[in-house]
Amino acid sequence: MTKPPIGRKLGQKVKSGKLKASSRRWLERHINDPYVQRAKLEGYRARAAFKLLEIDEKHQILKGARRIIDLGAAPGSWSQIAAKVTNSTDEDVRVAAIDFLEMAPLPGVKILQLDFLDDDAPRQLIEAIGGTPDLVVSDMAAPTTGHHRTDHLRTMHLCEVAAYFAIEVLGPGGHFLAKTFQGGTEKELLDMLKRHFKQVIHVKPGASRQESVEMFLLAKGFKGRQADVSDPRDESAEYVDEREGWSEDHGR
Ligand SMILES: C[S@@+](CC[C@H](N)C(=O)[O-])C[C@H]1O[C@@H](n2cnc3c(N)ncnc32)[C@H](O)[C@@H]1O
Repeated sequence: MTKPPIGRKLGQKVKSGKLKASSRRWLERHINDPYVQRAKLEGYRARAAFKLLEIDEKHQILKGARRIIDLGAAPGSWSQIAAKVTNSTDEDVRVAAIDFLEMAPLPGVKILQLDFLDDDAPRQLIEAIGGTPDLVVSDMAAPTTGHHRTDHLRTMHLCEVAAYFAIEVLGPGGHFLAKTFQGGTEKELLDMLKRHFKQVIHVKPGASRQESVEMFLLAKGFKGRQADVSDPRDESAEYVDEREGWSEDHGR
């Protein structure tokens, strides 16, 4: 188990002042969030670090990784972890990170400030790490428009494009992890991942807020591009649903 979050006193209130009620609620939740405090203490740029660490603790996707691609990387906590596990340095870069937002430099990480949907993004990502990645992670979420259905579809599209990218670039035995939304993983995407990977898992780490529809799709053990994946009925991959209180039928 990851260590329980620690930090200063929780339950702090923010004075109403000039803040809108919704902003005050957000700020209160943020300063009282044990993962935010722990990220600060441990030097991570975002609380999101613990989502990746918790998933790894259970599924060991970081161990032995030599090259990692981080999609939707800003502000950079997943890249911090990736650089550490790959021993990436500026002389021998093993981590490529992409985000259309600016991201502060990180030792050993090649940062591309670019839209992942840009046609040239895949080439630039591979060129940055100079070889085949064994792990592709995506925490990409589309900027919110306020229209729930549109936001949902856009993030699902990013997840799908990331999955096709992973299948195109991963080395045999590699893993793919991507943010998705509850109820949002299309059957075609799940089936496609099942054909290309040995195991496909829906996971909701503790650090992912319970009230959020966010969850993660983990595909482990890439079969390689030579594998025969032509049979759409191939159900040989193991499917595991680790989301509590969520029936598999809904997720398919
Ligand atoms: C939840 S944040 C990532 C946090 C990050 N994993 C960390 O640990 O710091 C999601 C990021 O995805 C980025 N993003 C969304 N769509 C993108 C796209 N099409 N191309 C590149 N980045 C994108 C956003 O700009 C945002 O910074």
